[in-house]
Amino acid sequence: MDMLIFKLEKNSKKPLYEQLYMGMKDAIITKQIEVGTKLPSKRKLADFLNISQTTVEIAYGQLLAEGYIASKPRIGFFVEEIDELPFVENKQAKIKVETVLKGTEPYQYNFHPGKIDTESFPFAIWRKYAKDLFDFPSKEYLQVGEPQGEYELRLEIANYLYQSRGIICNPEQIVIGSGTEHLLPMILRLIETNSKIALENPGYSAIPRIHLTNKAVPIAVDEDGLVVDELENTDANIVYITPSHQFPTGAVLSAARRTHLLNWAAKAANRYIIEDDYDSEFRYIGKPIPALQGMDQNEKVIYLSTFTKSLMPSLRVAYFVLPPALLKSYQEIFSYYSATVPRFDQHILANFMKDGHFSKHLNRMRKIYRKKHDRLTNTLTSFYPTTSITGDHAGMHILISVPLDKSENDLKQIANKSGIAVYPVSDYLLRPIEYEQPTFLLGFGGVALDDVEPAIHKLMNCWGIKRSHKKGKSHEL
Ligand SMILES: Cc1ncc(COP(=O)(O)O)c(C=O)c1O
Repeated sequence: MDMLIFKLEKNSKKPLYEQLYMGMKDAIITKQIEVGTKLPSKRKLADFLNISQTTVEIAYGQLLAEGYIASKPRIGFFVEEIDELPFVENKQAKIKVETVLKGTEPYQYNFHPGKIDTESFPFAIWRKYAKDLFDFPSKEYLQVGEPQGEYELRLEIANYLYQSRGIICNPEQIVIGSGTEHLLPMILRLIETNSKIALENPGYSAIPRIHLTNKAVPIAVDEDGLVVDELENTDANIVYITPSHQFPTGAVLSAARRTHLLNWAAKAANRYIIEDDYDSEFRYIGKPIPALQGMDQNEKVIYLSTFTKSLMPSLRVAYFVLPPALLKSYQEIFSYYSATVPRFDQHILANFMKDGHFSKHLNRMRKIYRKKHDRLTNTLTSFYPTTSITGDHAGMHILISVPLDKSENDLKQIANKSGIAVYPVSDYLLRPIEYEQPTFLLGFGGVALDDVEPAIHKLMNCWGIKRSHKKGKSHEL
């Protein structure tokens, strides 16, 4: 073989052997070196390229391992026949790289209900726990953990649930997984035998998408929460419900409906209530609403919650609490599955909770969200009675209804064109409901406090809603 000139850059970050290997591989693929050609000896090539023999040896070794060349003992190395790859005109056309502008928010103001405040996360503390964990003493966490999740985290969750939600459970009843969306199918698999699931209408839109919509029974929601009478008249045996703060209306399930619902569940062995307590940490008026699970005497409530609102959606940590009677079937079905949350993340969170940082964080965030909530509702009251608010005093979103003669979709488009994202309630309906006025969800978690007022003014302005002369009562602290 004539000596091919390989351009080797001695100062490159890429090691010389890799440059040589790549150059030769390319030459073989493109047939610049023909099949059957004998390669120069390692010494000769090393001398010619003015590099060490070891460099050539590693490059040849790699080509040999990948089958580009073959070795004939005591004779040398020969170029192998390589099947041609399909012709690709332009290397860059192989993979279409779409330029995704990372982190660019298309809207000036985004009222998405799933957004949280990102200004107040205790990064330094979280980093300290992460740093402490990623060290040799934690080497055991390199192995796969318990399917239900790390015991230490389940213990912290059990303590937290007892203190803040009145739930008595032990860590053995808790299952940790990477989000409500992954846990719900597990719960359904556990209790679902020819089951029909009832869902709140309007309700959390992820649920019907996760579940087979055709099997779901929509149940109306009013100012007292789920209409249990309506549930009684269906053949559903499982109900998914957000009793502490109905998503998205914000209604709290009344005491009468709570007992009614628990009694409904107690009437048949295959009836269950899935209680989603997704944002109960944030209540700005009165006492926290106790969990339904705490009232249940018949092991009918499967309690489900998440750290998505209370800490961050990207952590992907949620959990459910099983009634003891379901533990055996859980273990039979799911002991072969590994936990879906990395062990290190689970321990960071467990240590963060154990040292009291989670409660401190919640107290801080409650104040921040309360301020945003108050700023939002106060700003909106200057458009009162034109714009009405429901579902306030809790969580991270409210509902507003506007007296306009346009469809929700048209109004959404108008807002979007003005750089504001709002979310029509019709996006959360399983069965259509005729609302008297167009109604929207306004999530305030991700809007900066000082942006709340200008955002609402801009929104009302683009919709042509004027400020009313009467000022509503202010309750900003
Ligand atoms: C009603 C409801 N449940 C649960 C969640 C959280 O889901 P995940 O744990 O999958 O993040 C949300 C998030 O917005 C929600 O609105």
